[in-house]
Amino acid sequence: MYNEVTTFIRNLYNKPTDLVPLHAPVFTGNEKKYLNECIDTTFVSYVGRFVTLFEEKIAAYTGAKYAVAVVNGTCALEIALKLCGVKSGDEVLTQALTFVATSNAIAYCGGNIVFIDSEKQNLGMCPEKLEEFLTENTEIRADGYCYNKNTNNKVSACVPVHIFGHPCLIDKINEICSKHNIVVVEDAAESIGSTYFGKHTGTFGKTAVLSFNGNKTITTGGGGMIITDDEQLAKKAKYITTTAKVPHPYEFFHDELGYNYRMTNVNAAIGCAQMEKLDEYIANKRETAALYKEFFAKHKIEFFSEKENCFSNYWLNVIILKDREQREDFLKYTNENGVMTRPAWTLMNKLPMYKNCLHTNLDNAQWLEDRIVNIPSSVRL
Ligand SMILES: Cc1ncc(COP(=O)(O)O)c(C=O)c1O
Repeated sequence: MYNEVTTFIRNLYNKPTDLVPLHAPVFTGNEKKYLNECIDTTFVSYVGRFVTLFEEKIAAYTGAKYAVAVVNGTCALEIALKLCGVKSGDEVLTQALTFVATSNAIAYCGGNIVFIDSEKQNLGMCPEKLEEFLTENTEIRADGYCYNKNTNNKVSACVPVHIFGHPCLIDKINEICSKHNIVVVEDAAESIGSTYFGKHTGTFGKTAVLSFNGNKTITTGGGGMIITDDEQLAKKAKYITTTAKVPHPYEFFHDELGYNYRMTNVNAAIGCAQMEKLDEYIANKRETAALYKEFFAKHKIEFFSEKENCFSNYWLNVIILKDREQREDFLKYTNENGVMTRPAWTLMNKLPMYKNCLHTNLDNAQWLEDRIVNIPSSVRL
């Protein structure tokens, strides 16, 4: 039966013999024109019109008031967490089922990670498990902040992730975190174009990040964006990601530890061209998802579809197999036959760097890890 799957996917992507990649970038717009402009004007690095234009386009598209372009989604998260007050030794809540960058960014800030279980409905952080953890283990102290009663660490932030482009239950997570005075930083690296109750993912928390890595819905080669409605946070993000240089026509004076995280004009030029195509790409990906849904329904394989009140970009399409054994068989067959598929990430608490982190029970995350397979999801040309 798996050969019917590979045949279907090969036909879908019109690749009778070549490898079908999981998610290849497509450049069908003004990329070359804008890149030529960078070269002709010599503005290939930090000066040039495209960075600001790209930021404006992202802000307008997501509905966030401000957007700050940086070199990748991981450093966007690191800076977002720092600017939300995460200090070394603080506890930061996130989920075990995510890409390693989410955890790494917390670790770069010196945060102690707490892994919260996932839920099976939207594939995101489980609000019930989050609430249970906070109710059982934390208290609000005299300074108004939330502390873990067992470790005495401040619990300063929560990083829910919209995985594979599917909006998580961000309204409930927000509500719980605000009750406990915990800042929400959304990891929307995978979910550009996805909305929840009509509102763009990444505009629910205090701030959020997007990624424009080569495997994302749109790419800048490498790139990330911090989005927020908080003017001070945005200004500070711009400042510290551009080496904290005090503005002056020729003097170099930096008044705090800054970072060289600013996106280049070349990357932003590609981003501007990709933004012009974003809606077209998402419509194309949603059409692919609909075709997958129909196909897998016929073959009694569960295809994960967006839930009520969600609009998904279907960044990476997801099927949920019967058990880990079927997952292994499926992965082996498809990859050996030139159709790229991959499992969800190994849960973060199993990685050597994070094996001693606190966590809730991770039954749902483990259930999902055992069964999820991502299948080819590129825009079809
Ligand atoms: C969930 C998640 N968070 C963060 C990142 C980090 O983004 P980047 O690769 O741009 O550093 C990615 C993607 O790569 C991701 O999938």
